Amino acid sequence: MATINDNFLKLKAGYLFPEIARRVSEFQAANPEAKIIKLGIGDVTEPLPDAIIKAMHEAIDEQASRETFKGYGPEQGYPFLREAIVENDYAPRGCNVAADEIFISDGAKCDTGNILDILGKGNKIAVTDPVYPVYVDTNVMIGNTGEANDKGEYEGLVYMPMTADNDFIPELPKQKVDVIYLCSPNNPTGAVMTKEALTQWVNYAKENGSIILYDAAYEAFIQDSSVPHSIFEIPGARDVAIESRSFSKNAGFTGMRCGFLVIPKSLMGKDSQGNDVSLHKLWNRRHGTKFNGASYVIQKGAAAAYSEEGKKQIKETVGFYMENALIVRNTLTGMGIETFGGENAPYVWVKTPGGMASWDFFDKLLNECNIVGTPGSGFGASGEGYFRISAFNSRENINEAMNRLKTKLSV
Ligand code: MLT
Repeated sequence: MATINDNFLKLKAGYLFPEIARRVSEFQAANPEAKIIKLGIGDVTEPLPDAIIKAMHEAIDEQASRETFKGYGPEQGYPFLREAIVENDYAPRGCNVAADEIFISDGAKCDTGNILDILGKGNKIAVTDPVYPVYVDTNVMIGNTGEANDKGEYEGLVYMPMTADNDFIPELPKQKVDVIYLCSPNNPTGAVMTKEALTQWVNYAKENGSIILYDAAYEAFIQDSSVPHSIFEIPGARDVAIESRSFSKNAGFTGMRCGFLVIPKSLMGKDSQGNDVSLHKLWNRRHGTKFNGASYVIQKGAAAAYSEEGKKQIKETVGFYMENALIVRNTLTGMGIETFGGENAPYVWVKTPGGMASWDFFDKLLNECNIVGTPGSGFGASGEGYFRISAFNSRENINEAMNRLKTKLSV
């Protein structure tokens, strides 16, 4: 009899976003006339920049003739994209990242889960609370945790609370941990880590032999010039960090799928005998075995994000979403509701009025205003009493949603 991976049985109900989608469909079925506005999952709405569309059209046309046709590409990604990333994302910020330290993939979510393939079982894992659920669930799936308690916290994980008291910046754990997940700009709170805070983490990781998995998927939304865009802006990070990036939110690739990991060659992990082993080498081996490379057409589109025209168009779209975030923040503040984030990130983290539970506020918003957001408790116990509103939507929908909040929400 074939057995299954029992760890999956420890997972709580559904993954957060499908669970929200299920509740919304139920509501829509019962209220077919309701015009629901979705500010839940952080999915982009604006069309792809022209420069990217043009590049992808050209890439498709190349497939029509033998001379330019492409079969399997390099699993790690085409050099044209890896080099463009170094030239635009890393070199200008003084980060010492080489093109062959970049591994192109079909998205940051997959990378975030897959990276556990090359890390040892039994590592002590630290996650923030609230947290992007993928970090936790992938560790549950692989057996790095025990069961969940009533609050949804898994035995064996080290939770680092992010609350208004610490400005949503995680504090260093008192104990020694092996792997640390950090995300800045943060999903879901929208908070950003300063150079000083990040330096503390890099130093902690060096002292404790830990590895930081740094999620920089939202770096394009940083407005404050003092905030680091990459962990590799911090001296010493090459010895302790892996960074993941995405084209989803900046270039609008949630449907196209493209992201990448940066794994420095100087980053080492220990084998069971205590010997240093290059994580770059292990990932290269894993990537070559389990992945045949992101699509050529998509990589051409991603590279066009770095053309002069592409950069200009992306800046406009990012600016557009950030204006949405400002409209959301101003509306809620005007209603006497406390908000956080939304200044360097496309997410506004809202304190639920009257201390209402997150899922209750979700239901209230859906019922009274036909607006969907994300309950903070879905991101972890410390997210209880909060609610995330995504700024990814058309201006028309954002304005309409804010109007409904002002006129229909009973707080
Ligand atoms: C979110 O809403 O948190 C994101 O869209 C999830 C993701 O990027 O996978």
